[in-house]
Amino acid sequence: MFTFKLNDGNELPAIGSGTNTFGKENSSYMGEINFDTTPIETAIEVGYRRFDTAISYRNEAVLALGIKNSNIARNELFITSKLPNTEEFASNREAVVKGIELSLKNLDTDYIDLYLIHHPSDDNATNLMIWEVFEEYHHNGVLKSIGVSNFNQKQLQYLMDHSKTVPAVNQIESNPNSLNDELIDFCQQHGIVPEAWGPFHGVTEQQQETLATIGKAHGKTWAQVFLRYQLDRGVAVIPKSHNQRRQASNLDVFDFTLSDEEKNTIKGLA
Ligand SMILES: NC(=O)c1ccc[n+]([C@@H]2O[C@H](COP(=O)([O-])OP(=O)(O)OC[C@H]3O[C@@H](n4cnc5c(N)ncnc54)[C@H](OP(=O)(O)O)[C@@H]3O)[C@@H](O)[C@H]2O)c1
Repeated sequence: MFTFKLNDGNELPAIGSGTNTFGKENSSYMGEINFDTTPIETAIEVGYRRFDTAISYRNEAVLALGIKNSNIARNELFITSKLPNTEEFASNREAVVKGIELSLKNLDTDYIDLYLIHHPSDDNATNLMIWEVFEEYHHNGVLKSIGVSNFNQKQLQYLMDHSKTVPAVNQIESNPNSLNDELIDFCQQHGIVPEAWGPFHGVTEQQQETLATIGKAHGKTWAQVFLRYQLDRGVAVIPKSHNQRRQASNLDVFDFTLSDEEKNTIKGLA
């Protein structure tokens, strides 16, 4: 698997599987947890070694079960989870510790490859307080890499100005409707790997047609074209599918090249 080098020296697999509806009734985000591990196991079967979960998704333990059922060694996997910026998990140091320890327990692991602050607080001091606990767990080797999600330039700058650790990753929305170029540039200028959540959110039929036309020349689907565009500009991706064929196709994006003209067309989709 192609990887991105993080600013702490670790390697981030460029493509991971999203999980936010896995293990839930009706494959719905708010659905009851039913411990259906099928999409995790099919993803591992087709080659995924990286999974993106979060305390808020309520399915960290489902992921742990899917991994266990797949008989895959922990050190072959890269697991991301996230701490919610809520009263319960972010009101003070003890709450943050409680959240990290809960993730470790749910995931049935003694380390997490990448741990993120799921959403920024409006209060920079709260973000910093959380970050300082993350730093401690990073230094003791339990959180191998630490980062943030949905942070804007000012929130990132505050953390960088007031702490010793530059976030390794900023997981943000980026899709054909909202490429988020300025924030991605800012991250890259500061050695933060941008990672796109919801890569397929709200892609219109017209946008799909344009991407599909590009894909036709390469024998690829619209979704593969868009994922390749993100990877080419240094953006990690975490597409999610419950369908094994689409899971496999979302990984199969390294055997073609987009021309500059094609990239410009994609840039202009929004
Ligand atoms: N940090 C954050 O705040 C945040 C926010 C949102 C999401 N996330 C993370 O990002 C992950 C991905 O986002 P997401 O799950 O919301 O949405 P997504 O990956 O953009 O899209 C998922 C949808 O696209 C379909 N799909 C997947 N592959 C496809 C393909 N090759 N062709 C056509 N359709 C395809 C899926 O349907 P099928 O299942 O039928 O294939 C599903 O309906 C999440 O699972 C979560 O881990 C993070």
